[in-house]
Amino acid sequence: MAVNEAATGAPRRLTILGSTGSIGKSTIDLVSRNRDRYRVVALTANANAEALAAQARDLGAEVAVVADPKAYGALKAALAGSGIEAAAGPEAVVEAAARPADWTMAAIVGAAGLAPTLAAVAQGRTVALANKECLVCAGDLFMREVKRHGTTLLPVDSEHNAIFQVFDFDRPERIDHLILTASGGPFRDWSREAMALATPEQAVAHPNWSMGAKISVDSASMFNKGLEFIEAYHLFGLPGDRIRILVHPQSVIHSAVAYVDGSVLAQLGSPDMRTPIAFCLAWPDRMNAPVPRLDLAAQARLDFRDPDPERFPALRIVREALARGGVAPTAMNAANEVAVAAFLGRQIGFLDIPAVVETTMNAVMAGPLGNQAVSALEAVLAVDAEARRLAAGHAERLAAA
Ligand SMILES: NC(=O)c1ccc[n+]([C@@H]2O[C@H](COP(=O)([O-])OP(=O)(O)OC[C@H]3O[C@@H](n4cnc5c(N)ncnc54)[C@H](OP(=O)(O)O)[C@@H]3O)[C@@H](O)[C@H]2O)c1
Repeated sequence: MAVNEAATGAPRRLTILGSTGSIGKSTIDLVSRNRDRYRVVALTANANAEALAAQARDLGAEVAVVADPKAYGALKAALAGSGIEAAAGPEAVVEAAARPADWTMAAIVGAAGLAPTLAAVAQGRTVALANKECLVCAGDLFMREVKRHGTTLLPVDSEHNAIFQVFDFDRPERIDHLILTASGGPFRDWSREAMALATPEQAVAHPNWSMGAKISVDSASMFNKGLEFIEAYHLFGLPGDRIRILVHPQSVIHSAVAYVDGSVLAQLGSPDMRTPIAFCLAWPDRMNAPVPRLDLAAQARLDFRDPDPERFPALRIVREALARGGVAPTAMNAANEVAVAAFLGRQIGFLDIPAVVETTMNAVMAGPLGNQAVSALEAVLAVDAEARRLAAGHAERLAAA
């Protein structure tokens, strides 16, 4: 377990991977309200050089890195005279993640976050994990590295953070099953016919949460809940048949653990990611978070229902991926990233997303890479690349049809 620097009085040294995104900005918001408690080592983005440089200047970061080399000139210019180092390229992001830090927020979106997050894990300190795709595309490898380096892994995803808060890690045999709640997203009550015509604007308009574009589309398709199902499997070590997904439109109960005696322990709160981020930033302490307070009397009612597998095939596809094991989730995750980008780019329809994902996963598993184990980063990246190639081809054919 990492030393609690807050208890020793020394500021905690932080790195934020993906600092310009939705999770990154919420993390920066909390850090900037508690400047005496934190020192920023590294901030990273993909191409948003100006926002990154502004964050780095404001918090006095040691280094700011863009993954996209084309953004280097803009970053260098925006940091001129600040004394803050600038760097660019995917390797530079990994190097930044490897710089000694007490605590790292892993909030890059997609499988692009895997190598940097593994570099942070290798420090053997504390990693707050928002990037669920790491666990989906390389769960066995990722958890092995967490164990090997003695890293403290804190889940940021509100559902897993909720479970983390009520899970009896000392006596897991007392747990019967996990309940992962899902808002159901913007298309919760839409017919398949309406979903077929859904636009990117409608898909990203989440009813309860403000999030990045990719996870918002994943919420609309319920692939997000599927990815979280695999995330929960790796984080908490329960088999898929003991992880129940429940639609809960109000997003007040963030998830729950059902115990063998019939008790169900849940964590509740307003839907604001600054609560789980604050939990991770202060852990094992607690800190004040500037979030709306939950008023249960005003809330008045909480609803629950089982998800509809017909309208949301993502849940079946994800359960199949986990049951197949090996690189099936890796292929599924990569195909989903490509399909979501194609949908956001208006190349394919909303209902084409699960079709592209399932076809791609089946093709990868039937091909020469299908038998690989998720034991080395190179193997994962090879499967990821092959799935992206196949999914892009499929999306192009759909776009041309
Ligand atoms: N948003 C939420 O409420 C929420 C909740 C739970 C879990 N999560 C998870 O947290 C992660 C981040 O989500 P988000 O909503 O914050 O995403 P987002 O708003 O799209 O931000 C993504 C961040 O990653 C950077 N990035 C994108 N592509 C990259 C690449 N190839 N290499 C390096 N950096 C790259 C972006 O930089 P630019 O700004 O330069 O593009 C940005 O800083 C996802 O895995 C998501 O599933 C998010």
